[in-house]
Amino acid sequence: MASRVLLLTLLALAFSHSLASDPSPLQDFCVADLNSNVFVNGFVCKDPKIVTADDFTGHGLDMPGNTSNPQGSAVTPVFVQQLAGLNTLGVSLARLDFAPYGLIVPHYHPRATEIMTVIEGALHVGFVTSAPNFQLFTQVVKKGDVFVFPKGMIHFQFNYGDVPAVAISGLGSQDPGVVLIPNAVFGSNPPISDSILAKAFQLDKHIIDYLQSKF
Ligand SMILES: *[C@@H]1O[C@H](CO)[C@@H](O)[C@H](O)[C@H]1NC(C)=O
Repeated sequence: MASRVLLLTLLALAFSHSLASDPSPLQDFCVADLNSNVFVNGFVCKDPKIVTADDFTGHGLDMPGNTSNPQGSAVTPVFVQQLAGLNTLGVSLARLDFAPYGLIVPHYHPRATEIMTVIEGALHVGFVTSAPNFQLFTQVVKKGDVFVFPKGMIHFQFNYGDVPAVAISGLGSQDPGVVLIPNAVFGSNPPISDSILAKAFQLDKHIIDYLQSKF
């Protein structure tokens, strides 16, 4: 009996260690070689002998993103794809711009917690916890305030004011990923069958077809 408990404990520990996350670096840095044809978890390292300070330097976050789109928002990422020096380090950054009443639609990051600070204007933000509670946590955050969106939680950021807003987010992955809920559900490629979505949302198929036509 005791040995069985021990075995189960060991198995549980083994599985908990097999859960994927951003890897801990095994060297000072591993600047991404974004052009390599070798597929690893992350990107292969550029030869350290030819790495320069530029590999750790990004530019352009002083520039507002283009918010002339239906949602009135823009995200300027500084992920590993933009800044190769982030490879294996488990962090990244983004600039968020909002036109008046601009929205970053409900979405989640499969690989990262997000910590955001408002540097201009004010935002109404929130996230929803997982089943069975689906609890909504919301807040109004103003210039200088900080809000954290836990990893994997569906969240949104809305500029409820009539002036532009700007925020900066740090993310706990070199490549956080993003799943935009409306696009993923109604704009998948190929589309999810309208009868499946009609049943899921308890709506008429015509309404589903209309929603799918929007994406
Ligand atoms: C912003 O995006 C809109 C829509 O795509 C485009 O028409 C416009 O030229 C862009 N503005 C700038 C400054 O790039």
